[in-house]
Amino acid sequence: MANVIVIGAQWGDEGKGKITDLLSGSADLVVRYQGGVNAGHTVVVSDQTFKLHLIPSGILYPKTECIIGNGTVIDPKELITELDKLDELNISTDNLFISETAHVTMPYHRLIDQATEERRGTKKIGTTKRGIGPTYADKSERTGIRIIDLMDADAFAEQLRWTIDYKNVVLEKLYDLEPLDADEVLEEYLVYADRLRSHTTDSSLQIYNAAQQKKNILFEGAQGTLLDLDHGTYPYVTSSNPVAGGACIGSGVGPTTIDRVIGVAKAYTTRVGEGPFPTELDDEVGQTICEVGAEFGTTTGRRRRCGWFDGVISRYAVRINGLDCLAITKLDVLDGLDEIKVCVAYELDGTRCEDLPSGARQFSRCKPIYETLPGWKQSTEDCRTLGDLPKAALDYLEFLAKLTEAPIAIVSLGASRDQTIIVEDPIHGPKRALLKENTSAFKVMA
Ligand code: IMP
Ligand code: MG
Repeated sequence: MANVIVIGAQWGDEGKGKITDLLSGSADLVVRYQGGVNAGHTVVVSDQTFKLHLIPSGILYPKTECIIGNGTVIDPKELITELDKLDELNISTDNLFISETAHVTMPYHRLIDQATEERRGTKKIGTTKRGIGPTYADKSERTGIRIIDLMDADAFAEQLRWTIDYKNVVLEKLYDLEPLDADEVLEEYLVYADRLRSHTTDSSLQIYNAAQQKKNILFEGAQGTLLDLDHGTYPYVTSSNPVAGGACIGSGVGPTTIDRVIGVAKAYTTRVGEGPFPTELDDEVGQTICEVGAEFGTTTGRRRRCGWFDGVISRYAVRINGLDCLAITKLDVLDGLDEIKVCVAYELDGTRCEDLPSGARQFSRCKPIYETLPGWKQSTEDCRTLGDLPKAALDYLEFLAKLTEAPIAIVSLGASRDQTIIVEDPIHGPKRALLKENTSAFKVMA
């Protein structure tokens, strides 16, 4: 029995979808705890590709209960589109539950997200324009609409009229946009309410009861550590807390419920949107990684910026999340390269720096200090054990484990479920905290 958090250890898109899909097989409950339709998980099962934004990938397992927790923001229209798609594919969604206290993304949130990005000009964040920031802003400001409000037609109508009056001032006066018609929005959202009603629940209680019954709970983070509102590269972050600590708040469980935290990192680094990225490659190698790795966003289709593995941010992710182990994904993407660089530290204003600086201005001045490792120049796609890997690939993984001080429990070599090496049982294997004394992380792999 174990309750596990899976988080992204970089800037999102680490391949959490595949790892949570793998682990969901042994989970009774999968809980998404933050973010909204800004996220995109691609899961490949047999020859079918599933693109999910809000619904946890655990939905593909008929017995697994899936919860969209209180810490998320829900765009009902998009959620219903996902439900419809799964219905078409004959995948049951009876086991999908939505927290009554999650916040609802409204049409004005999207409009304000887009307009704010335009107004920011060169200071834009590069958001997904899905209304995420404005929905969370209303939550903090206490003018948000929650799922439970949406379910009560009369109360919702009253709250919506008041809110739209107020948002129309913003839309018209600040952004010179057309005002919204409250009746139209009301009519549209009441249809959504009816469709979603049977899925709504007191999710914190449901999770608590599952934990009491010793069920296995998987907490699925969206985005990644460096996009965390508090611990990421602010202001170039999302508006929620993808880090492991966010799992407790975003699902309503105490920290003592959590047994283990697994971080997912690519064998290189990518980033979508704006913001400093020290190991970014503007050359042919970056282009090759982008093409071989098919680095285009699931949600926006944007080309992801690509670069070398950054040991500083990954070590930071180990610390901030208290990671027990790492899953390294997309190792195969590096198969064709002659040599591979790894950033082991930064140089900031002439000084070597091992830790992530707190400010974006300092971070943007950080220059990577690299160590160069030889490539292996052969396909790893069909490797199923560590022993199948070329020596140089194994050396590369050991280098990453040592650098991040985290054991590598899983190595992924392609999108499908079977293109995976399980090095250690990620759920019941040794915990990093216990390893520190006598073994360096990479020894776990031997
Ligand atoms: P927002 O979450 O739409 O407000 O976008 C804020 C920043 O987070 C932008 O740089 C986005 O590109 C990035 N972002 C949001 N969601 C994801 C994701 O699921 N993967 C990768 N980047 C994301
Ligand atoms: Mg994604």
